[in-house]
Amino acid sequence: MSKTWRPATQLVHGGTLRSQYSETSEAIYLTQGFVYDSAEAAEARFKGETEGYIYARYGSPTNDMFEKRMCAMEGAEEARATASGMAAVAAAILCQVKAGDHIVAARALFGSCRWVVETLAPKYGIECTLVDGRHLENWEKAIRPNTKVFFLESPTNPTLEVVDIAGVAKLANQVGAKVVVDNVFATPIFQKPLELGAHIVVYSATKHIDGQGRSLGGVILSDTEWVNEHLQDYYRHTGPAMSPFTAWTLLKGLETLPLRVKQQTENAGKIADFLAEQKQVAKVIYPGRKDHPQADIVAKQMKGGSTLVAIELKGGKEAAFALQNALEIVKISNNLGDAKSLITHPATTTHKNLTDEARAELGISPGTVRLSAGIEDTDDLIEDFAQALSKIKA
Ligand SMILES: Cc1ncc(COP(=O)(O)O)c(C=O)c1O
Repeated sequence: MSKTWRPATQLVHGGTLRSQYSETSEAIYLTQGFVYDSAEAAEARFKGETEGYIYARYGSPTNDMFEKRMCAMEGAEEARATASGMAAVAAAILCQVKAGDHIVAARALFGSCRWVVETLAPKYGIECTLVDGRHLENWEKAIRPNTKVFFLESPTNPTLEVVDIAGVAKLANQVGAKVVVDNVFATPIFQKPLELGAHIVVYSATKHIDGQGRSLGGVILSDTEWVNEHLQDYYRHTGPAMSPFTAWTLLKGLETLPLRVKQQTENAGKIADFLAEQKQVAKVIYPGRKDHPQADIVAKQMKGGSTLVAIELKGGKEAAFALQNALEIVKISNNLGDAKSLITHPATTTHKNLTDEARAELGISPGTVRLSAGIEDTDDLIEDFAQALSKIKA
């Protein structure tokens, strides 16, 4: 395995463990446990004197391949695969805090992520301050002597705001806090939070990494020291481990990730440009466009646009629903990152639990829809939007 391989090569070959049968495709080791040659061998394994697996809740060969391939892609020393993206987010945050600690998080977070820091953490005596993460001074002002974790998503769901990751990391380092970045929207192809100074990266592998609507999964990536000190025991004893079957589907997903993300991004960019010119559309937010409100930060930390587009329709909820119902190729779904183009109305789905005021703060209006561009033919998608928009009153 070469460390110098470029991402597309790492994603096909990185981490492969071939069995004695020399299979082409990675093997699925669908086993709960492992056997030992002798009682002495079992004792040595448990003492950590020999290398090897003990129990699939701790780690197993197919998961290992997935974790190593993710490490190669991300430039991380260690990874732990989890059963869902939320298992990854919860573990990455909760494993490193205790009662009396304080978290600073961007308020623009996926609903369940926000629930973890805003509702769950305080039940255990961990306080959380939510800030408008677009401005570094808000992060700085929120710091307290007991601040241990900064948590953010960039770009954000669904309005594609971006956070200056290097700036937040600099502030965190000044006070000895750790920065956890949910990198789902950017994908590992377009943004490398560890290179920008973040300490921990999490993914919902359910999204672009699988990308074909099959498996729920997640992954946490960081350095060996942090994993050993904080995550290892939490992961072993609370049991968020991924199924080896899921790890196998995700290994297959990683092979085609760059190809899918490239086509999805091309589609998203062209659809964004088309929609920006339509009379029914009030605003398009797309990180790849020059008119993105934080285009300077996008240029600084992202290598590409995004597979997602936020669209605000002039006709409010009525227009948003009419557009979704009239689309033929683009399917209505709250999922994202899929080969199929998907559209959702955040105010009534993913962000329905927020108050009207909290939604307004995030720029989610009744007319906002979020498109996750798929890999279909670009012209077919644009024609689908054109026919659907023609059915909406301007
Ligand atoms: C930004 C973001 N983080 C985390 C998650 C949670 O991932 P999962 O559904 O795999 O638990 C999602 C989506 O569901 C998401 O969009």
